[in-house]
Amino acid sequence: MREGLGLNVLTICGSARAGSYNAALLRALPLLAPGEMAFTASIPVINIPHYDFDLQNASGPPAAVMELAGTIREADAVLIVSPEYNYSVPGLLKNAIDWISRVPKQPLANKPVLIQSVSNGILGGARMQYHLRQVLVALDARVFTKPEVMVGLAASKFDETGKLVDEATQALIRTQLAGFLAFAKEQPTP
Ligand code: FNR
Repeated sequence: MREGLGLNVLTICGSARAGSYNAALLRALPLLAPGEMAFTASIPVINIPHYDFDLQNASGPPAAVMELAGTIREADAVLIVSPEYNYSVPGLLKNAIDWISRVPKQPLANKPVLIQSVSNGILGGARMQYHLRQVLVALDARVFTKPEVMVGLAASKFDETGKLVDEATQALIRTQLAGFLAFAKEQPTP
Protein backbone atom coordinates (compact mmCIF):
# COMPACT_ATOMS: atom_id res chain seq x y z
CA MET A 1 0.00 0.00 0.00
CA ARG A 2 1.37 3.40 -0.98
CA GLU A 3 1.56 5.68 2.06
CA GLY A 4 -1.19 8.30 2.21
CA LEU A 5 -2.79 7.32 -1.09
CA GLY A 6 -5.30 4.80 0.22
CA LEU A 7 -5.87 1.28 -1.03
CA ASN A 8 -6.18 0.88 -4.80
CA VAL A 9 -8.21 -2.23 -5.52
CA LEU A 10 -8.34 -3.81 -8.97
CA THR A 11 -11.69 -5.49 -9.53
CA ILE A 12 -12.04 -8.57 -11.73
CA CYS A 13 -15.55 -9.70 -12.67
CA GLY A 14 -16.08 -13.38 -13.50
CA SER A 15 -19.23 -12.67 -15.52
CA ALA A 16 -19.34 -11.13 -18.98
CA ARG A 17 -23.15 -11.00 -19.03
CA ALA A 18 -24.69 -7.62 -19.91
CA GLY A 19 -27.14 -7.71 -17.00
CA SER A 20 -24.71 -9.39 -14.61
CA TYR A 21 -25.61 -9.38 -10.91
CA ASN A 22 -21.92 -9.68 -10.09
CA ALA A 23 -21.18 -6.54 -12.09
CA ALA A 24 -24.09 -4.89 -10.27
CA LEU A 25 -22.50 -5.83 -6.93
CA LEU A 26 -19.26 -4.21 -8.07
CA ARG A 27 -21.14 -1.01 -8.87
CA ALA A 28 -22.51 -0.94 -5.31
CA LEU A 29 -19.12 -1.15 -3.60
CA PRO A 30 -17.84 2.46 -3.69
CA LEU A 31 -20.75 3.61 -1.50
CA LEU A 32 -20.13 0.80 1.00
CA ALA A 33 -16.34 0.98 1.18
CA PRO A 34 -14.12 2.95 3.57
CA GLY A 35 -13.18 6.32 2.08
CA GLU A 36 -9.55 5.35 1.55
CA MET A 37 -10.49 2.41 -0.70
CA ALA A 38 -10.69 3.06 -4.46
CA PHE A 39 -11.77 0.60 -7.14
CA THR A 40 -10.58 0.25 -10.74
CA ALA A 41 -12.05 -2.31 -13.14
CA SER A 42 -9.73 -4.76 -14.88
CA ILE A 43 -9.86 -5.60 -18.55
CA PRO A 44 -12.97 -7.84 -19.06
CA VAL A 45 -12.07 -11.52 -18.69
CA ILE A 46 -13.85 -12.23 -21.99
CA ASN A 47 -11.08 -10.22 -23.72
CA ILE A 48 -8.42 -12.70 -22.57
CA PRO A 49 -7.66 -15.29 -25.30
CA HIS A 50 -7.87 -18.99 -24.55
CA TYR A 51 -4.83 -20.29 -22.73
CA ASP A 52 -2.37 -21.66 -25.27
CA PHE A 53 0.89 -23.22 -24.07
CA ASP A 54 2.41 -23.28 -27.57
CA LEU A 55 1.63 -19.61 -28.16
CA GLN A 56 3.12 -18.76 -24.78
CA ASN A 57 6.25 -20.75 -25.66
CA ALA A 58 6.57 -19.12 -29.08
CA SER A 59 5.82 -15.48 -28.32
CA GLY A 60 4.94 -15.09 -24.64
CA PRO A 61 1.56 -14.16 -23.18
CA PRO A 62 -0.70 -12.04 -25.44
CA ALA A 63 -1.05 -8.28 -24.93
CA ALA A 64 -4.38 -8.59 -23.10
CA VAL A 65 -2.79 -10.93 -20.55
CA MET A 66 0.18 -8.60 -20.05
CA GLU A 67 -2.27 -5.71 -19.60
CA LEU A 68 -4.15 -7.63 -16.91
CA ALA A 69 -0.88 -8.65 -15.26
CA GLY A 70 0.34 -5.05 -15.26
CA THR A 71 -2.83 -3.75 -13.63
CA ILE A 72 -2.66 -6.49 -10.97
CA ARG A 73 0.97 -5.60 -10.28
CA GLU A 74 0.17 -1.88 -9.91
CA ALA A 75 -2.83 -2.45 -7.62
CA ASP A 76 -2.48 -2.66 -3.85
CA ALA A 77 -5.09 -5.40 -3.76
CA VAL A 78 -7.43 -7.40 -5.99
CA LEU A 79 -11.15 -8.08 -5.61
CA ILE A 80 -12.63 -10.96 -7.60
CA VAL A 81 -16.42 -10.93 -7.88
CA SER A 82 -17.82 -13.92 -9.72
CA PRO A 83 -20.81 -16.16 -10.25
CA GLU A 84 -20.67 -19.91 -9.68
CA TYR A 85 -20.92 -22.10 -12.77
CA ASN A 86 -21.70 -25.76 -12.17
CA TYR A 87 -20.47 -25.57 -8.58
CA SER A 88 -17.15 -24.01 -9.55
CA VAL A 89 -15.18 -21.12 -11.08
CA PRO A 90 -16.50 -19.87 -14.48
CA GLY A 91 -14.21 -20.87 -17.34
CA LEU A 92 -13.50 -17.28 -18.42
CA LEU A 93 -12.20 -16.41 -14.97
CA LYS A 94 -10.19 -19.60 -14.60
CA ASN A 95 -8.70 -19.02 -18.04
CA ALA A 96 -7.54 -15.53 -17.04
CA ILE A 97 -5.99 -16.88 -13.84
CA ASP A 98 -4.25 -19.68 -15.73
CA TRP A 99 -2.63 -17.11 -18.02
CA ILE A 100 -1.65 -14.90 -15.08
CA SER A 101 0.01 -17.89 -13.42
CA ARG A 102 2.43 -18.14 -16.38
CA VAL A 103 3.47 -14.47 -16.47
CA PRO A 104 7.06 -13.80 -15.34
CA LYS A 105 7.15 -12.38 -11.79
CA GLN A 106 3.62 -13.71 -11.34
CA PRO A 107 1.72 -10.67 -10.06
CA LEU A 108 -0.78 -12.34 -7.72
CA ALA A 109 2.01 -13.67 -5.49
CA ASN A 110 1.63 -12.07 -2.03
CA LYS A 111 -1.17 -9.84 -3.33
CA PRO A 112 -4.08 -9.31 -0.91
CA VAL A 113 -7.16 -10.78 -2.61
CA LEU A 114 -10.82 -10.56 -1.66
CA ILE A 115 -13.54 -12.79 -3.12
CA GLN A 116 -17.24 -11.99 -3.43
CA SER A 117 -19.97 -13.81 -5.32
CA VAL A 118 -23.59 -13.45 -6.40
CA SER A 119 -25.73 -16.29 -7.67
CA ASN A 120 -29.34 -17.18 -8.28
CA GLY A 121 -28.94 -20.18 -6.01
CA ILE A 122 -29.43 -20.19 -2.25
CA LEU A 123 -25.72 -20.78 -1.51
CA GLY A 124 -24.62 -17.54 -3.17
CA GLY A 125 -21.66 -19.06 -4.99
CA ALA A 126 -20.06 -20.68 -1.94
CA ARG A 127 -18.75 -23.66 -3.91
CA MET A 128 -17.13 -21.35 -6.45
CA GLN A 129 -15.48 -19.36 -3.66
CA TYR A 130 -13.80 -22.41 -2.13
CA HIS A 131 -12.59 -23.65 -5.52
CA LEU A 132 -11.26 -20.17 -6.31
CA ARG A 133 -9.45 -20.03 -2.95
CA GLN A 134 -7.80 -23.34 -3.78
CA VAL A 135 -6.65 -22.03 -7.17
CA LEU A 136 -5.29 -18.85 -5.58
CA VAL A 137 -3.20 -20.95 -3.17
CA ALA A 138 -1.29 -22.17 -6.22
CA LEU A 139 -0.50 -18.56 -7.08
CA ASP A 140 0.61 -17.62 -3.53
CA ALA A 141 -2.07 -14.94 -3.23
CA ARG A 142 -2.97 -13.72 0.27
CA VAL A 143 -6.69 -14.40 0.33
CA PHE A 144 -8.87 -12.70 2.96
CA THR A 145 -10.97 -15.16 4.94
CA LYS A 146 -13.93 -13.67 6.76
CA PRO A 147 -16.53 -12.37 6.85
CA GLU A 148 -17.48 -13.95 3.54
CA VAL A 149 -19.84 -12.25 1.09
CA MET A 150 -21.93 -14.80 -0.80
CA VAL A 151 -25.08 -13.17 -2.13
CA GLY A 152 -27.70 -15.83 -2.88
CA LEU A 153 -31.17 -15.51 -4.42
CA ALA A 154 -29.87 -12.55 -6.42
CA ALA A 155 -33.20 -11.42 -7.84
CA SER A 156 -34.42 -10.64 -4.32
CA LYS A 157 -31.35 -8.53 -3.40
CA PHE A 158 -31.24 -6.14 -6.38
CA ASP A 159 -33.99 -3.95 -7.81
CA GLU A 160 -34.95 -3.88 -11.50
CA THR A 161 -32.30 -1.22 -12.23
CA GLY A 162 -29.55 -3.46 -10.81
CA LYS A 163 -29.19 -1.53 -7.55
CA LEU A 164 -28.27 -3.55 -4.48
CA VAL A 165 -31.20 -2.89 -2.14
CA ASP A 166 -30.85 -5.61 0.51
CA GLU A 167 -29.78 -3.86 3.71
CA ALA A 168 -28.35 -6.94 5.44
CA THR A 169 -26.10 -7.55 2.41
CA GLN A 170 -25.03 -3.89 2.39
CA ALA A 171 -24.10 -4.09 6.09
CA LEU A 172 -22.13 -7.31 5.59
CA ILE A 173 -20.20 -5.78 2.70
CA ARG A 174 -19.37 -2.68 4.77
CA THR A 175 -17.96 -4.91 7.51
CA GLN A 176 -16.06 -7.08 5.05
CA LEU A 177 -14.46 -4.17 3.18
CA ALA A 178 -13.35 -2.55 6.45
CA GLY A 179 -11.80 -5.85 7.50
CA PHE A 180 -10.13 -6.30 4.13
CA LEU A 181 -8.66 -2.79 4.29
CA ALA A 182 -6.98 -3.64 7.61
CA PHE A 183 -5.83 -7.03 6.27
CA ALA A 184 -4.32 -5.49 3.14
CA LYS A 185 -2.53 -2.82 5.17
CA GLU A 186 -0.94 -5.32 7.54
CA GLN A 187 0.24 -7.53 4.66
CA PRO A 188 2.02 -5.15 2.29
CA THR A 189 2.77 -6.28 -1.23
CA PRO A 190 6.49 -6.85 -1.92
C1 FNR B 1 -25.25 -21.01 -13.54
N1 FNR B 1 -25.84 -20.62 -12.35
C2 FNR B 1 -25.51 -21.27 -11.18
N2 FNR B 1 -25.89 -20.76 -9.95
C3 FNR B 1 -25.49 -21.38 -8.79
O1 FNR B 1 -25.82 -20.92 -7.71
N3 FNR B 1 -24.72 -22.52 -8.85
C4 FNR B 1 -24.31 -23.07 -10.02
O2 FNR B 1 -23.63 -24.07 -10.01
C5 FNR B 1 -24.71 -22.43 -11.23
N4 FNR B 1 -24.30 -22.93 -12.43
C6 FNR B 1 -24.47 -22.18 -13.57
C7 FNR B 1 -23.86 -22.58 -14.74
C8 FNR B 1 -23.95 -21.78 -15.88
C9 FNR B 1 -23.23 -22.19 -17.13
C10 FNR B 1 -24.71 -20.59 -15.84
C11 FNR B 1 -24.82 -19.71 -17.06
C12 FNR B 1 -25.36 -20.22 -14.71
C13 FNR B 1 -26.78 -19.49 -12.30
C14 FNR B 1 -26.08 -18.21 -11.94
O3 FNR B 1 -26.06 -18.05 -10.55
C15 FNR B 1 -26.84 -17.03 -12.55
O4 FNR B 1 -26.89 -17.18 -13.96
C16 FNR B 1 -26.20 -15.71 -12.20
O5 FNR B 1 -27.05 -14.67 -12.57
C17 FNR B 1 -24.85 -15.56 -12.91
O6 FNR B 1 -24.21 -14.38 -12.48
P1 FNR B 1 -24.25 -13.01 -13.33
O7 FNR B 1 -23.97 -13.33 -14.77
O8 FNR B 1 -25.65 -12.48 -13.15
O9 FNR B 1 -23.23 -12.14 -12.68
